[in-house]
Amino acid sequence: MSEGICTWGSDVKNRGYPNQEIFNLYERWSRGGFSMSITGNVMVNPYCLEIPGNAVICQENWSEELGKLLRKWADVSKIDGCLGIVQLGHCGRQTAVDSSTEFHYDPINEFKFYEYVQISLEDIQHEIIDRFVFATLKVKEAGFDGIQFNSAYGFLLSQFTSAKHNKRTDKYGGQSVESRVKIIVDIVNAIREYIPKDDKFIIGAKINPTEYFFESENGLQDAVEISKYFEDLFDFVEYCGGVAEPLNIPIETLPPAFAKRLKFYVDLQDLLRSVYKECKFFATGYRSVEGMVNSIKSGRVDGCLIARAATSEPDLPLKIMKNEVTGVHWNKFSPLDFHIQVEASGTQLLHISKTPLKNGTSLTYGIPEFTNEEACKKYVEQHEKFESTRKNRDCPVPNYMEFVE
Ligand SMILES: Cc1cc2nc3c(=O)[nH]c(=O)nc-3n(C[C@H](O)[C@H](O)[C@H](O)COP(=O)(O)O)c2cc1C
Repeated sequence: MSEGICTWGSDVKNRGYPNQEIFNLYERWSRGGFSMSITGNVMVNPYCLEIPGNAVICQENWSEELGKLLRKWADVSKIDGCLGIVQLGHCGRQTAVDSSTEFHYDPINEFKFYEYVQISLEDIQHEIIDRFVFATLKVKEAGFDGIQFNSAYGFLLSQFTSAKHNKRTDKYGGQSVESRVKIIVDIVNAIREYIPKDDKFIIGAKINPTEYFFESENGLQDAVEISKYFEDLFDFVEYCGGVAEPLNIPIETLPPAFAKRLKFYVDLQDLLRSVYKECKFFATGYRSVEGMVNSIKSGRVDGCLIARAATSEPDLPLKIMKNEVTGVHWNKFSPLDFHIQVEASGTQLLHISKTPLKNGTSLTYGIPEFTNEEACKKYVEQHEKFESTRKNRDCPVPNYMEFVE
């Protein structure tokens, strides 16, 4: 999950360095029994951040010091046998923060797209392929177990795979999935020149099928076709963009477009699952232990990924393995308001990052709870004020709000 707590500065040389706060956070998850922890977006271009405080790995900010900090990040992520995976991303047209000190982030219009610019083939090589290769090699050197491409949520790689956003007419565009997915194939092949397939290094990706469905007539077929490429390229794929278990509200009361998207997510899961054979297929959106166990036992998925619940209960896997819980301790925010849920989860993440573990402290120590309506109401009030001042802050890091209970 995007942490928003790494170093930030107008000079890109000092941008995106992990720090003790990051280590505190990832230590909680590895000690909490997770078998794999995936970092938030680590950007490969310091000018194309998703949020201020993203970690960044690129030539421009590279130093021996960054190498050391990445090694420490890998070490804390891997305590107790947890696999440490770094998510690599590039925002492309969705860039929230530009190269100057100007701060473009607009959290209300998160999915705002900036002007379309068709970059040259030369820039595709230098600005995209070379950057992903550079960052991957540094991640491997640091001792992480693998990477995951963020090829979802409208970021650069999905801008290429999307029939709606990709307006190119050359070998990286057009109506065929083969040419739209070529950028990802080329990046992986370039990485494979340094890290062969029989190396134990894991390479995965993220796919949000609902993006494809809503944007073109062939969306469904596109998602399947893209998955066929992913099956060959990747060790695991994360399927996201919906909820794996029904929301606790009658479907007829949901806004129709939202209900349609949720239904599509569930329907498409089986279709895509059937494409993935060698490549592990993971999904997000779980709430109950029964839901997770049934999904794995029935073969619908090979593993369950947990995001929001991991910030309120970093020890969730340990509790599940000890048979202490039947599900996650879910918050009382509106289930339809994903924005406030992400913000509150970011707040919990921020609180964890500020409270290092000491001998004997519980893994949930210092985390604000949003499991009662009173706390959620208070959070929403404080957050409204925070949001209104967000763009004018001198320093936009940390990205999330600290909650005063
Ligand atoms: C605070 C926060 C930050 C997130 N950051 C990222 C990110 O950096 N990259 C990403 O692919 N997904 C990100 N997500 C989305 C989650 O990985 C996940 O797909 C989504 O929240 C659904 O899973 P859940 O129902 O378990 O929360 C983020 C979610 C939250 C709550």
